Amino acid sequence: MNSISEKELAAIEAVKFIKNNMTIGLGTGSTAAYMITHLGERIKKEGLIIYGVPTSEATEKFALKNGIKILSLEEVKKIDITIDGADEFDTYLQLIKGGGGALLREKIIASNSEFNIIIADSGKQVSRLGAFRLPIETVPFATKKIADQLHQKGLDPILRKKGETVFSTDEKNYILDVNILPFYNLESLNQELIAIPGIVETGLFLTTTDLVLMGKGSKVIHFKK
Ligand code: A5P
Repeated sequence: MNSISEKELAAIEAVKFIKNNMTIGLGTGSTAAYMITHLGERIKKEGLIIYGVPTSEATEKFALKNGIKILSLEEVKKIDITIDGADEFDTYLQLIKGGGGALLREKIIASNSEFNIIIADSGKQVSRLGAFRLPIETVPFATKKIADQLHQKGLDPILRKKGETVFSTDEKNYILDVNILPFYNLESLNQELIAIPGIVETGLFLTTTDLVLMGKGSKVIHFKK
């Protein structure tokens, strides 16, 4: 039996792409946490200097513990590689992200990166996106009205909660998790959603990914653009 999980295998493979002095976009979630741990080990062993631009406050804390030098987005000239997880990916390397609530910063960092690597276990691979509800980040002021609109469109929005309270993102916004399964044109759905005032971002990442590294059993499979 293999003791290393598929998530960790994918993370180990991704860390091999990192070279000294690179600036890395650091994803959020359990798979990205493996990547940060293994990058931390390389920093210690090889004396590397690595700069990281985190996609969440949680990732920032964890990266600092692992010896990564934190930079803000405005401080960096370029992000060489971003390594992040996903909730689902399809054959076209389109993603649903935001299960951990960090979709906004994740999308900003991904779209400011030269190369984007997604690391995932094999359970994240789907033939069609949507079994995982799509997270949509909304401004609290408008959330009730947006939910009504999304309901009208057949998206069945659910306001994300953390226990009894409404879940709040790092940017102090709310998240509506919606069902996109009835929708086949994701690009037009995304444009329609983004056009609604008060929707800040969606967890549909349709064009940013360059490479998916998927752990499967004891192997890592590469899916390239
Ligand atoms: C964070 O907001 C998400 O986009 C994560 O990247 C995604 O939920 C994957 O998380 P895990 O690596 O924990 O499965």
